[in-house]
Amino acid sequence: MRGKFITFEGIDGAGKSTHVEWVADRLRARLAGTASVVTTREPGGTPLGEDLRQLLLHRKMHLETEALLMFAARREHIAEVIEPALTRGDWVVSDRFTDATFAYQGGGRGLPRARLEVLEAWVQDGLQPDLTLLFDVPLETASARLAGAREPDKFEAESRTFFERTRQEYLRRAAESAQRFRVIDATRSIPEIQVELEKILATL
Ligand code: ADP
Ligand code: TYD
Repeated sequence: MRGKFITFEGIDGAGKSTHVEWVADRLRARLAGTASVVTTREPGGTPLGEDLRQLLLHRKMHLETEALLMFAARREHIAEVIEPALTRGDWVVSDRFTDATFAYQGGGRGLPRARLEVLEAWVQDGLQPDLTLLFDVPLETASARLAGAREPDKFEAESRTFFERTRQEYLRRAAESAQRFRVIDATRSIPEIQVELEKILATL
């Protein structure tokens, strides 16, 4: 039986990475040895993808180059990691996937959605996450969490309006694909969020 594909999304500092390993461990307990759980991330997830990540996070580039490189890294990630795992029956938990491109390159930077949809159809060939957890927080919360936590990369140094547009695009997509998304109020404490995550996992 084919495994399930779960993605984590949200603006920088929302707190999604904090929960990736925890969710994977809860899934391992639930699957009780019947399937493995692979954790991965985008941009990245493969040796080539991690090299592209370094460029994407630290080099200035044309907006369309950025979108194309995100999808190039994703093509490799799907071919080398995601699709083989799902075909084996394993589950995949990815810290970000294509919704991030629609939110950041589309919403944040203003690249037309139709352009991204062409790349999505090409690169994914119908592959979509079974479940997307959107960690949603107001900008103030995200920036307070990031302050002092780490050195900002190219995206984290973006303006407030950039992140406002990014967040709104995530929420728009969540409303449009309500079946696939669960929007998590990530302003709450980590234990409170974990209670909600546990309930969501029980429905899978
Ligand atoms: P993201 O992956 O969404 O950018 P992280 O998981 O790296 O965010 O979290 C950013 C910072 O906020 C980290 O220092 C983390 O410890 C902290 N953090 C995460 N979730 C919460 C929470 N619910 N309450 C308070 N601080 C949090
Ligand atoms: P991520 O590793 O999730 O960063 P963090 O752990 O700091 O939240 O993602 C790196 C950055 O790349 C993040 O700022 C969002 C951005 N990004 C895009 O702009 N488009 C994409 O398609 C993806 C996957 C990420």
